[in-house]
Amino acid sequence: MTSRYLHDVLIIGSGAAGLSLALHLPRHYRVALLSKANLNEGSTFWAQGGMAAVLHSRDSVDSHVTDTLAAGGGLCQREAVEFTVRNSRRCVEWLVSQGVDFDVREDLGASHDSEFHLTMEGGHSHRRIIHTADRTGREISEVLTERALAAGNIEVFTHRVAVDLVINEGRCEGAYVLDQRSGHVDLFQARAVVLATGGASKAYLYTSNPDGASGDGIAMAWRAGARVANLEFNQFHPTCLYHPKAKSFLITEAIRGEGGRLLLPDGERFMTRFDARGELAPRDVVARAIDHEMKRLGADCVFLDISHQSLDFLQSHFPTVMARCLEFGIDISAEPIPVVPAAHYTCGGVVVDTRGRTDLAGLYAIGETSFTGLHGANRMASNSLLECIVYAESAARHIAQTLQQTRAPDAAPPWDESQVTDSDEDVVISHNWDELRRFMWDYVGIVRTDKRLQRAQHRVQLLQAEIAEYYGNYKVSNDLLELRNLAMVAQLMIQCAISRKESRGLHFTLDYPDQLPEAKNTVLRPDNSPLQ
Ligand code: FUM
Repeated sequence: MTSRYLHDVLIIGSGAAGLSLALHLPRHYRVALLSKANLNEGSTFWAQGGMAAVLHSRDSVDSHVTDTLAAGGGLCQREAVEFTVRNSRRCVEWLVSQGVDFDVREDLGASHDSEFHLTMEGGHSHRRIIHTADRTGREISEVLTERALAAGNIEVFTHRVAVDLVINEGRCEGAYVLDQRSGHVDLFQARAVVLATGGASKAYLYTSNPDGASGDGIAMAWRAGARVANLEFNQFHPTCLYHPKAKSFLITEAIRGEGGRLLLPDGERFMTRFDARGELAPRDVVARAIDHEMKRLGADCVFLDISHQSLDFLQSHFPTVMARCLEFGIDISAEPIPVVPAAHYTCGGVVVDTRGRTDLAGLYAIGETSFTGLHGANRMASNSLLECIVYAESAARHIAQTLQQTRAPDAAPPWDESQVTDSDEDVVISHNWDELRRFMWDYVGIVRTDKRLQRAQHRVQLLQAEIAEYYGNYKVSNDLLELRNLAMVAQLMIQCAISRKESRGLHFTLDYPDQLPEAKNTVLRPDNSPLQ
């Protein structure tokens, strides 16, 4: 049985982007905010490092813009970069006004012009990462969640997975949404719909991301007719904990920012052989160097050593990493941490403008789901929380300015389950899920070739046919929806990767190791794109 909900704004996703947008909307709008699981479980919550912002007088907007453009390998859109960086200080102030407690300098009193402790990460030419120890995402997520729950106009729905968008005469007017507890698919309608569902790193066997990172928003927008771009640029974080029982645990780049060194199993420091910036080269460079050394030596991992810092320093700056490593018997104050690269961030996504508007009227995309042009071919560390907050605000402003003139949605038909039955073979889902993530890792990973990409394309087509058949015959479940979305986004990633005949940023292929003189985005249009 389908329930119907009607709000002014529907936000799908409850991370930093979705929560900020909800909180920026005027209080007289009724807002539905959907979370796939419990609140505080998505990617934002697990973000360790921090948020890049121009806060120190020796830093400048120009410098942050220049660093971002350099890391992006010639593909960043300057307008998006300038827009984001110019708004960084204001976004920090807004977060602080909401109650976010960033670390302040311990040595205030000398001639310091930023009260905050700013750390360093790859690609940045200044200390500009504002943070809360190594649990910045958790702090932001918990504070904004508390605010949203206290706001009288925001209705939060947990354990809700969007199935597909409702499109009426080219306009997005809502979504069909699975209630995981009742098993029913409900209809949520609104005058504006926002996709804030995060990225798709779960497409890879090894990832720093939580389970929900299955590209739902990207897949739904694509099926509804919106363009997507640059999905070949999957960022691999160089340092995730290597331990058989440590699923998805990130070792923050801020450790390298505070002097952490990457070592081979025999203790040799190797990054300086690859890049003069050493451990603080941009992530694509560091991840490729690690991958190269691991393959050359047949090593299972490399090591990250921060043991030269004092115990006090480590306890105050990296309490999360320290505690988690200790659970596995690794004392980071005395020994190096075994690390490997893992899929971390989807740089491409649904094409939007500076207000978060997609190609479809009434549909917005923000955060990792979107392609704003900020990240180019390689996201610079800690620019993404910033992007979430900046675009959440600008999209909220646009929604607030236009909602009065937007008509109420027409009643859409209820979800039709008359042709489907309960699944009799869930193994199809688990098998395809494993197969997809394995071949994406092996064939569409840090180093690619035409042959590997063709193999991946062939396999994803087979999987998609099987998933479509399954989807047409059986009732939907969270696992089936995630698999369907991941396979869709994986196919788009492969398509983008095949069409890029060069190596640039995060896309490195042995068949075209050089960079073409002209930098071009890979923009894909679905058959039903309103722009055709
Ligand atoms: O290394 C980290 O803490 C991650 C930061 C980021 O992805 O921006």
